[in-house]
Amino acid sequence: MNKKEYIELAEENLLHVYNRFPVIFDYGKGVHLYDELDQEYLDFASGIGVMAFGYGNEDYEEVLTTQIKRITHTSNLYYHIPMIEAAEKLTKASGMDKVFFTNSGAEAIEGALKTAKKYAYTKNGPGEYEIIAMENSFHGRTVGSLSVTGTEHYREPFYPLMSGVKFATFNDFGSVLANLSDKTCAIIMETVQGEGGLYPADKTFLKKVRQLCDDEGILLILDEIQCGMGRTGSMFAFQQYGVLPDILTTAKALGNGVPVGAFCVTDKVASASLVPGDHGTTYGGNPLCTAAVSQVFNMFEDYKLLDHVNEVSKYLEEILDIFVAKYDFVTERRGMGLMQGLVLTVPVKDVVLKALTEENLVVLSAGKDVLRLLPPLVITEKDVDEFKEKLEKVFDSFI
Ligand SMILES: Cc1ncc(COP(=O)(O)O)c(C=O)c1O
Repeated sequence: MNKKEYIELAEENLLHVYNRFPVIFDYGKGVHLYDELDQEYLDFASGIGVMAFGYGNEDYEEVLTTQIKRITHTSNLYYHIPMIEAAEKLTKASGMDKVFFTNSGAEAIEGALKTAKKYAYTKNGPGEYEIIAMENSFHGRTVGSLSVTGTEHYREPFYPLMSGVKFATFNDFGSVLANLSDKTCAIIMETVQGEGGLYPADKTFLKKVRQLCDDEGILLILDEIQCGMGRTGSMFAFQQYGVLPDILTTAKALGNGVPVGAFCVTDKVASASLVPGDHGTTYGGNPLCTAAVSQVFNMFEDYKLLDHVNEVSKYLEEILDIFVAKYDFVTERRGMGLMQGLVLTVPVKDVVLKALTEENLVVLSAGKDVLRLLPPLVITEKDVDEFKEKLEKVFDSFI
């Protein structure tokens, strides 16, 4: 079958909920992807922030291959060593105390919301508890995670969603206070908004929200599904803010390509929230996925990956700042570490399509007008140079 026939077959059989780009990726090596005709693409999207170690990493593949041969699934009714080891590594890396593994980011959010509600129920008894979420946020597509996602057009067709959610303006503490009530049980936000357009939380804002939560007995949920796992130069972005959440969600790069997420809680929360019977999952944290998680943490140490991210991201920022200076239609650079965005006044969708189809460069969009870059964390300065050359050609065509 040729490419056209494959795409026709796909559209014949798959529910059309994505306007997919006209490309078929077949395999990858390092920071490059290859299509069915072996054409090479430079990947500055990493499967939307998942493939931290790029493609075809032998250290990673060896662990997964060995695990497949031992056992891939048992169920959460029993203990298994990969989950035990992965949980220990995740608590150590995050500073949280307890972990529940999920299959996706949205499921981690679901677990976080249930935990917050159960905590309030345990402390105060039954009540119509409320959650403050942020405008312009993205937390996932399930009913619970959609309920706290601050983009009206994602939510609107699915009303009524979970009740008791109020939306505050991100980085506006007054707006958080205006939405506070004696029913508020949690405040949820991304430490760095991803889909919304690469907006980091202001330091003072996050610290004030943390203090408010402490003062009022409210739980702070930080969603680091996109910005966590080394993306911003620390293992979790909140570690650069001097705060600790009560509940943390992670996914994406946590498994480097296997479907795994987690919500993590402090002992204070664990001791007064979910108990046996309250929550569960068949696949969540199975031996294959948690062997991957464990190896991801090993490789972060072995490769000194955080140091690398901090070095190479400086170089990427320099290049991006050159673009801001050079092209009138590039108005701003935003982001942290290897989570970067360029604000454009030309249609970002056209830039993304042109980059892919004419320069074999894989990039993403975010919000209405942001070109989003989430390269594998292992990119080198040489890869950044290749990126510069390709993006320059794309941008030149928009002058
Ligand atoms: C910050 C954030 N939260 C939650 C999600 C949902 O994760 P998933 O697509 O794995 O359900 C995403 C996905 O992009 C995200 O970026």
